[in-house]
Amino acid sequence: MARLMQGKVVLVTGGSTGIGRASSLVFAREGATVVVADINLAAGEGTACAIRDSGGQAVFIAADVSKRGDVETLVNRAVGLYGRLDCAFNNAGIAGAIGSAVHDYSEDAWDRVMSINLKGVWLCLKYEIQQMLKQGGGAIVNTASIWGLVGAPGASAYVASKHGVVGLTRAAALEYATQGIRINAVNPGTIRTPILDPFIAADPEFESMITARHPIGRIGMPEEVAEAVVWLCSDAASFVVGQNLPVDGGYTTQ
Ligand SMILES: NC(=O)c1ccc[n+]([C@@H]2O[C@H](COP(=O)([O-])OP(=O)(O)OC[C@H]3O[C@@H](n4cnc5c(N)ncnc54)[C@H](O)[C@@H]3O)[C@@H](O)[C@H]2O)c1
Repeated sequence: MARLMQGKVVLVTGGSTGIGRASSLVFAREGATVVVADINLAAGEGTACAIRDSGGQAVFIAADVSKRGDVETLVNRAVGLYGRLDCAFNNAGIAGAIGSAVHDYSEDAWDRVMSINLKGVWLCLKYEIQQMLKQGGGAIVNTASIWGLVGAPGASAYVASKHGVVGLTRAAALEYATQGIRINAVNPGTIRTPILDPFIAADPEFESMITARHPIGRIGMPEEVAEAVVWLCSDAASFVVGQNLPVDGGYTTQ
């Protein structure tokens, strides 16, 4: 059977761990050459190595998505290495100061969340789209969240940044729909990745409390988001434009 991403060049930000790592592996399984980008150098090399060890093609490039120069260089290096950029998964993100109410939230924490989660996605779109316009098309998926679709107390910067990603995805999708560039987002529910570690460590009840909010009765695995991301990037999703797809065990259906 033909593989979904055969011959495609794909960039994954936040590809060192969690959803980005799982997606990098699924992209490679489906035949893509994967450019893994992250600020976590050791784990990023680990993702690229795992792909090469199983017979795929991958390279790790260190890049901080909140820095314009890093993102411009990242896209240029990917295109320099492989000649084009067919797909991108703009996934790097942080939780920020969860548990802080709006009136207590520090300006530094707010700026950090916004610069990585929202400005980082915009910077990636900017340089990826410049390349995709030159080559005549591409497909991009951004990582938003269930908290880009509904609110949550104690996570104002994160919720605002992810609502921003949802809006940015819609605006950008409409701008480039006629130019062969499809842009969508995934909105994961709670997924078992390292981003949860501090919350589980801080509160023994966290996992059972959050599990109870997912109608499916469990939290998700990164591979379950990865399959949706790869499908959205693939030609199998050729008529899907500007959507924010919940992958959330029913969380936003309630
Ligand atoms: N795990 C969840 O429950 C969940 C739910 C909804 C959305 N998300 C989103 O999924 C995405 C991936 O998170 P995850 O759950 O896999 O967590 P994770 O912590 O395993 O992955 C995030 C990755 O982003 C990288 N990163 C952080 N700041 C960066 C920067 N400035 N530049 C480049 N890379 C950077 C980290 O090093 C890490 O590898 C995030 O955008 C997160 O907000 C996660």
